[in-house]
Amino acid sequence: MGILKTIKRKTILLSNLFSKNFIIKDKNIIITGSNSGIGLELLNKLSRENNIIALVNKSLENINYKKNIKIIQNNFENLEFDETFIEELNDFKPNILINSAANFGPENQSLGDINFKDFQKIININVLAPLRLIQICLRSNNLRQIMNITSGMGSLTNSHDGGYYYYRTSKTMLNSISKNIAYDLKNKRINLFCLQPGNVKTKMNSSGIISAEFSAQKIINILGEDNSNFSGKLIDINSKILNW
Ligand SMILES: NC(=O)c1ccc[n+]([C@@H]2O[C@H](COP(=O)([O-])OP(=O)(O)OC[C@H]3O[C@@H](n4cnc5c(N)ncnc54)[C@H](OP(=O)(O)O)[C@@H]3O)[C@@H](O)[C@H]2O)c1
Repeated sequence: MGILKTIKRKTILLSNLFSKNFIIKDKNIIITGSNSGIGLELLNKLSRENNIIALVNKSLENINYKKNIKIIQNNFENLEFDETFIEELNDFKPNILINSAANFGPENQSLGDINFKDFQKIININVLAPLRLIQICLRSNNLRQIMNITSGMGSLTNSHDGGYYYYRTSKTMLNSISKNIAYDLKNKRINLFCLQPGNVKTKMNSSGIISAEFSAQKIINILGEDNSNFSGKLIDINSKILNW
């Protein structure tokens, strides 16, 4: 199993050695979950040439402070977005919103153990917070792209397991809401899509195959393409359109 994983990882890296890496410049970008995993790598790369609002939950120690990064702390658990927060986001005039933050919830999420308070918290973090942020960012009229990072576990077509109610169904709901919003944004020249980041080694997935750095660059390549054909769609990091 270990050898297979290593071969798979090396094959992925090799096949991408010669692929072109996009650079996104001079944009105002909001990244949620930017103190960890994929969000942190997106922050590291995108903060080289863009202004960033880094939305973080708890710890800040992983972030390399720069003057073009504004860090705002907000725990999405209770959906508390006060007027100061909303004003800060509007004044920033975001061009791109990346919803990367998500919470897997407790390991035990089997049918008999569902705790509805915990379930609601995960829905707040993984679904309603991204929705609220989209609502807020749309106010300033500068938004051009919204990327909601989802998971294969939320796929109705490709999920063949039970359990993991909080995480799985929250991602399914995020997919559904994203598709809905994309219809509402048609004719506004705003692309909204859901992205599966791959099997990435992060705090959430310690057995991931690819690095967060690798996944983040692929995500940036897709954002750099700014392809309206992706709007309302679910794609993977190789720009392949997937079934919901
Ligand atoms: N890794 C994978 O293989 C994989 C696969 C499919 C999809 N994804 C998706 O990729 C995205 C990034 O995940 P990751 O793998 O990079 O995991 P991660 O390292 O655990 O990052 C998750 C981020 O979400 C934030 N977050 C958690 N609870 C929050 C809350 N209550 N309020 C605000 N922010 C909160 C975390 O902040 P704190 O650390 O401060 O709590 C962290 O920054 C997620 O949407 C995840 O579902 C990952």
